[in-house]
Amino acid sequence: MNIKNKSKIEFKNLLVTGGCGFIGSNFIRYLINNKNYSGKIINVDCLTYAGNPENLADIAADYSSRYIFQKVNICDLKKLEKIFSKYDIDAVCHFAAESHVDRSIKAPGNFIQTNIIGTFNLLEVSKARGDEFRLFHHVSTDEVYGSLGAKGFFRENTPYRPNSPYSASKAASDHLVRAYCKTFSLPVTISNCSNNYGPYQFPEKLIPLIILNALEGKPLPVYGDGKNVRDWLYVEDHCEAIWRIMTTGDKGETYNIGGNAEMENILIVQMICDILDEIKPAGNGRPRRNLIAFVKDRPGHDRRYAIDFSKLKKELNWSPKESFDSGLRKTINWYLHHKKWIKNIKNGTYLKWIKEQYG
Ligand code: NAD
Ligand code: TYD
Repeated sequence: MNIKNKSKIEFKNLLVTGGCGFIGSNFIRYLINNKNYSGKIINVDCLTYAGNPENLADIAADYSSRYIFQKVNICDLKKLEKIFSKYDIDAVCHFAAESHVDRSIKAPGNFIQTNIIGTFNLLEVSKARGDEFRLFHHVSTDEVYGSLGAKGFFRENTPYRPNSPYSASKAASDHLVRAYCKTFSLPVTISNCSNNYGPYQFPEKLIPLIILNALEGKPLPVYGDGKNVRDWLYVEDHCEAIWRIMTTGDKGETYNIGGNAEMENILIVQMICDILDEIKPAGNGRPRRNLIAFVKDRPGHDRRYAIDFSKLKKELNWSPKESFDSGLRKTINWYLHHKKWIKNIKNGTYLKWIKEQYG
């Protein structure tokens, strides 16, 4: 198999894992509307608390010949084998994961199962496709590189130093993907990106949690001194970058994806308060900054993440389109206009609906 291949590649039957989650559902939406892709999308998702088929209800209704949903756990090798052969899968874009650092501190077991064993299963079934198989794209995180001080950036050759059970499990999965490429010539690409934000993000992560708490007049929890820094990537920019890597990236390569938007957590929380005060003032007329509550720090809390994505920019001509200010305003507006989605998540209606639909 030719590992170095820069010509644009095409896929017929792309299996997307974790397509009912935040980034996966945005990616499927991006791809189904992309004129340069006319193949099928097979979405494999076991619908954990973070998986919500409502995210793609319109796509499922409008594109039933091109979009297929399969409620399957990636830890179930036998079911994966059946799906790969039934749908003649020639490429994978792998999002499915347990993704929240705080949950990985409380209960790491599922992170080991899904992120490591699940990835291993997908690599095995992909390998079994032989020369028919075109690409395994693995979606990973900058958190595998550990934590930075005040200066410096993560580059593709930065040594791995994961600090949380979440990042350690993602690091293990990255190594497995790389090893399947080196040892078995499986055609792979890997991307490590910074913190995503945008529509459909489950409100346990910082930005949607703060937006929803601020709207409800609840305390806005800021861990530690609030000066931890993350780089923020608007989810649509991320989807475009993944597709660019999948179609034109070099096999066996890793690409960092960043949003050009380093921010201290406290500044983000203040920005959300100020934007909401401007467009939807609180009923009691008080500034929402009054709701900010500094709380106990997260154990092992990484201080700073920052991404150097010059490789992706130089080699594949990708840069983020959204500024943090414009992306944050779009995100806040999305949550303001999707009250039913929020209500369903909060009162568990969608979990009941999943039970009725899929047993
Ligand atoms: P998410 O938690 O919103 O969604 C995860 C999806 O995977 C859900 O739909 C869930 O049902 C599904 N899933 C979980 N376990 C599964 C299993 N065993 N079998 C089948 N499906 C399963 O996550 P996200 O934020 O969309 O992240 C997607 C990917 O991007 C993850 O691999 C994550 O590590 C990576 N990533 C996320 C961010 C971020 O800021 N959100 C940043 C960098 C990398
Ligand atoms: P999070 O959205 O959980 O993403 P990650 O841990 O993967 O970076 O958290 C982003 C930052 O915000 C991180 O430094 C932890 C902090 N944080 C808070 O201060 N309060 C919160 O309630 C949450 C969820 C996160």
